[in-house]
Amino acid sequence: MHIQEIAKDLYYVGVIDHSLKVFDVAILTEYGTSYNSYLLRTKEGFLLFEGSKEAFGEEQIAHIEEICPLKEISYLFVTHTEPDHSGAIHLLLEKNPELTVVASGPALMNLQKILRRPFKKVQMTPGKDMEIGGYTFSFVPGTNLHWPDVMFTYIHELKALVSCDAFGAHFASDAVFLSKEPDKEGYYKALRYYFENIMGPFPSFVIKACDLVEKLDISLILPGHGCIIDENPMEQVRLYRRLAEEGLPKNDPNLVTICAASAYGYTKELAERTAKFLEERGKEVRLHIIDALNYQEEKPLVLQDILHSGMFLLGSPTLAGDAIVLFYDILNGLPWTKAQGKTASAFGDYGWSGEAVPNLSERLRQLKCRVLPGFRANFRMDEAQEEEFSRWLESLLA
Ligand code: FEO
Repeated sequence: MHIQEIAKDLYYVGVIDHSLKVFDVAILTEYGTSYNSYLLRTKEGFLLFEGSKEAFGEEQIAHIEEICPLKEISYLFVTHTEPDHSGAIHLLLEKNPELTVVASGPALMNLQKILRRPFKKVQMTPGKDMEIGGYTFSFVPGTNLHWPDVMFTYIHELKALVSCDAFGAHFASDAVFLSKEPDKEGYYKALRYYFENIMGPFPSFVIKACDLVEKLDISLILPGHGCIIDENPMEQVRLYRRLAEEGLPKNDPNLVTICAASAYGYTKELAERTAKFLEERGKEVRLHIIDALNYQEEKPLVLQDILHSGMFLLGSPTLAGDAIVLFYDILNGLPWTKAQGKTASAFGDYGWSGEAVPNLSERLRQLKCRVLPGFRANFRMDEAQEEEFSRWLESLLA
């Protein structure tokens, strides 16, 4: 049981899950997680911040009922509607149909589709504070951290920010409070992995949210996962800003990343000649030749170089009617939010059908890159193909 009094009249009523190994299908949770929720006693009844995951709904209710009967909760504040926070809200409403849900406009729309039942609601609006039972609540957009519906709640009297997924970590802490957590190293490892996988694709939105949060006087951050941040909360915000700034695409127009793989040396030769051509024209080129053996080491370097480059070129031979699978893995590590606006093209040799270049070009279009026509060489180039290759090289500078 992890019910804790956080501050006067504010209680932790969340659920801690040490057993979780994978979150959202693909995100490993080495340290488990928690589904945090908070109960505030006011002069006009209790307020609940955050729902829970469906499987933990009854446990959340049991925790709440150690403090007050469910019927005494008048408002439920929802900061975002991913079902790890909203999946059990239907249980709260079944037991307390008078509960009024307070959430952003998009979150209320989502909730309607998740609950499929009528419910009382109030829309959170930035600049329009709510006052309930002696407490004042302001709403701070956390748009796209990591869903479009995110809205933080700032509780003035407690100097507390209810931040949902932001500033948290998948980390099951029996200590509940960061100041009491003995495994700080594990916590920050979990936090960085969480940031990279959940917030990392949205660096410009993270920075926008940090700009707003940094204007607040905060003593406590109450996140949706992991420890309550009760020491140096602004340090956590600054860490988020730093991580987001590191992940911002730079799109340096003079920098070109070339990443190529080559079975028999033909595509490698194209890559090297392309690099030489571009360097002779004053570009800075980062050339990576990858294969299955060096891939794990090269992948982060390739992604980092692509992030900084205004242009990137992928060179793959065709294998079994497609590009080498490593390229799709690289592109999976490059969300469209970071790829958009970069110039990109594909090239490579082929023996029979040559699908690698059109298939990679299609994926680059899906990532909203400015995609230039690719270049394909059929085995070793003849004179006509040499001329075509020269034209392709020139087109990269156009
Ligand atoms: Fe913890 Fe986006 O849900």
